[in-house]
Amino acid sequence: MKLIFLGPPGAGKGTLAAKAVDILKVPHISTGVIFRSAIAAKSPLGLKVKAIIDSGKLVDDETTIELVKERLAQGDAQKGYILDGFPRTIPQAEALARFSSADKAVNFDIPDSAVLERLSGRRVCRKCGANYHAVFNKPKTAGVCDACGGEIYVREDDREEAIRKRLEVYREQTAPLIGFYRKKGLLLDVDASPGADEVVGNFRKALGL
Ligand code: AP5
Repeated sequence: MKLIFLGPPGAGKGTLAAKAVDILKVPHISTGVIFRSAIAAKSPLGLKVKAIIDSGKLVDDETTIELVKERLAQGDAQKGYILDGFPRTIPQAEALARFSSADKAVNFDIPDSAVLERLSGRRVCRKCGANYHAVFNKPKTAGVCDACGGEIYVREDDREEAIRKRLEVYREQTAPLIGFYRKKGLLLDVDASPGADEVVGNFRKALGL
């Protein structure tokens, strides 16, 4: 199954994707994770995108489209994928349709107040990228990742000013994709506001699993 996860920053796309890979047996492809790994490795891509991402703006379409096109050409993505954080603009969605046909776009339906609560408490493992939350999903040992023992940190773009920018960018450039995929008959709305396990249930129901 080829799925797009569409939703505001902090809606829980990465958290659900980590659980959905076990259900669907397809890879989780997150452009945000790819960019952050490039930044950590100080690769040419990472050096190019670091300041843009830290400020909450979007990386340019050309760079992002090329990256996803190459990733989707790899063997593991032939049987399906969960695309988390791509497309994020209409030009990205049009480009994707030229090189891959998604089966559904899952729209994470969630109010702004919940998004702010989730983003301001988010903690991430520097080593494996696992997501935690200061209130809703604490690691067993403070500051240490349950999965790999890595250090847990606050993302640069989870600072207040960058969160505001990301929400503004979402409304202007990404929210129009809801109408884009609805018109194509591909949109599935999922109530993303309850706890993580209930969101998994809502997701299964929406997909008829
Ligand atoms: P990206 O990493 O994709 O960021 P995002 O879309 O802003 O999404 P987030 O990772 O912030 O949130 P999420 O929805 O995955 O929520 P999460 O599961 O972590 O992109 C980062 C940047 O890269 C962008 O700003 C941009 O610069 C660049 N970029 C990426 N893709 C791009 C593209 N296509 N084009 C251009 N630029 C691009 O959950 C959030 C928190 O809530 C966590 O703490 C979690 O534990 C908690 N939580 C999750 N679900 C629940 C729940 N059900 N109940 C309670 N708590 C929950």
